[in-house]
Amino acid sequence: MSGRCIELDLLASPGCWAEVREVRQRVKRLMASYDEDVQDAAVMTASELLENALKYGVAIEGASAARFEMHLDEGALTIATTNIVDSDAEGAALRARIEHIMREPDKEALYLQRLQDFMDTSTVAGGLGLYRVAFEGAFDLQCATGNKMVVVTARRAVP
Ligand SMILES: Nc1ncnc2c1ncn2[C@@H]1O[C@H](COP(=O)(O)OP(=O)(O)O)[C@@H](O)[C@H]1O
Ligand SMILES: [Mg+2]
Repeated sequence: MSGRCIELDLLASPGCWAEVREVRQRVKRLMASYDEDVQDAAVMTASELLENALKYGVAIEGASAARFEMHLDEGALTIATTNIVDSDAEGAALRARIEHIMREPDKEALYLQRLQDFMDTSTVAGGLGLYRVAFEGAFDLQCATGNKMVVVTARRAVP
């Protein structure tokens, strides 16, 4: 593994949340020479995507629950997670959600509307993380899905 990349597989277990914390620290170290806002965006995005992969991924006997990859190349940062889902419909719903976010020119409006939904309706919960990655983190999101597998990729320029 080079100093500018992280690649690891996580098993779903109570201990995996400690590993998520470790991943956040590794991301922070990898980004140490960048502005603090870029570091924060990278750590937040790594955390949101990895937590999603572990929360919504399906554990299969003997296989990792989530794969995490981060690559830092000349001015571009890529963070990607891979996990299995219960059905292709679930993967398609995630892809549609991500495409909707990417089509929306005003990412801040999406994020604020979701916050407003929380305040207006006590039954609304969650659904903020990917909006946050797109708005606060300024990442472009992509989702590839098929054969009950989803790959979520977040990319942004890192000046
Ligand atoms: N890696 C993933 N695998 C399967 N479904 C996912 C994944 N990431 C996100 N989702 C779906 O997208 C929804 C929105 O995710 P997110 O914006 O992070 O909000 P939250 O995690 O709070 O629900 C989730 O509720 C879930 O249904
Ligand atoms: Mg989430």
